[in-house]
Amino acid sequence: MTVVASAPGRVNLLGEHTDYNQGFALPIALTARTEIHYVAETTGDLVVEADGYGQLTIPVRAAPGEVDGWAAYVAGVAWSLGVEGRPVAGGRLHITSDVPVGAGLSSSAALQCSLIGAFTAATGVPDRLTWARIAQRAENDFVGAPTGLLDQLASLHGQVDRALLIDFDSLSVDPVPFDPTTAGVTLVVIDSHITHGHAGGEYAARRRSCERAAADLGLPNLRAVAPGHPDDVLAAVRDEVDRRRARHVLSENTRVLQACAALLDGDLATVGAVMDASHASMRDDFEITTPGIDLIAATARSAGALGARMTGGGFGGCVIALVDTARVDTVVASVVAAAREAGGPDPTAFTARAGRGASVDQLS
Ligand code: GLA
Repeated sequence: MTVVASAPGRVNLLGEHTDYNQGFALPIALTARTEIHYVAETTGDLVVEADGYGQLTIPVRAAPGEVDGWAAYVAGVAWSLGVEGRPVAGGRLHITSDVPVGAGLSSSAALQCSLIGAFTAATGVPDRLTWARIAQRAENDFVGAPTGLLDQLASLHGQVDRALLIDFDSLSVDPVPFDPTTAGVTLVVIDSHITHGHAGGEYAARRRSCERAAADLGLPNLRAVAPGHPDDVLAAVRDEVDRRRARHVLSENTRVLQACAALLDGDLATVGAVMDASHASMRDDFEITTPGIDLIAATARSAGALGARMTGGGFGGCVIALVDTARVDTVVASVVAAAREAGGPDPTAFTARAGRGASVDQLS
């Protein structure tokens, strides 16, 4: 029996580093997907062929620490399914993907979510929250990245022409209309090709800052902070840096809700302004941008974008911009010229719309 399962990458329109703070985010699933062809066998090994990455044999019973590189994502999913009481027996896997790797577009969530779909198709796929948690456990405890649930929930719940308002406190996911093309506006994703060697450690440090800030306030998490001006409600946070980190999280939650309201009103100018404010908060309070990323966002804006911000975990990756469709080429050309002038890598850009979520496409 061959199973075909697939799952998309994502861009987050707003709500960065809010997921592990029980806050709000507003991602879309991309139309770019990872697709798995899986033939089950009871050999105890997975023979994996990934286009562009060659062939590997991966034991299905590997423990955390025993497999690294991209194979850890495959072995981690098999391990996590075992923890869930859904052991994988082995088999042959073929992986194809058009989700850019290492660009902050959640190629790892696309891979993990599609693998879970393939491995569980014959016995019944889990509900989407369990599916997301199986993928997150693989990433947290096997791969070793202390990430939240944003990427997996976006990949699993994606809908065509809809953004997803995720509340990480209740874990509800509500679709919000997102089709800027009807208003003559295009979502442009600009890959900076900038990567930061310390991104993993910086992510964990941001997470600890947020936890310390909540603890200083005597609260379980930053979502529990009472409404009010961030500088007032965060006054009891002892460390100035922790206070700024927490201020980003609180203001970012507000921006997600503002953007949702603006989308429902068809007010893309306000969505753009909120994206700009989000970028400033990530740059100044959360300090997860880089000079090259700031330059791309600022150039996109000065070349006419309605708004631009870095998307994803930070320290590189992609900038997204909302741009009048007639100005897309001008904005992209300006960004490439500015990055080149500054001596950075040449950015590349593509236009994006919201696509469908993970699915099991064929069981035969
Ligand atoms: C990465 C993580 C997510 C989320 C974002 C930042 O993509 O995997 O869980 O924290 O960074 O919003």
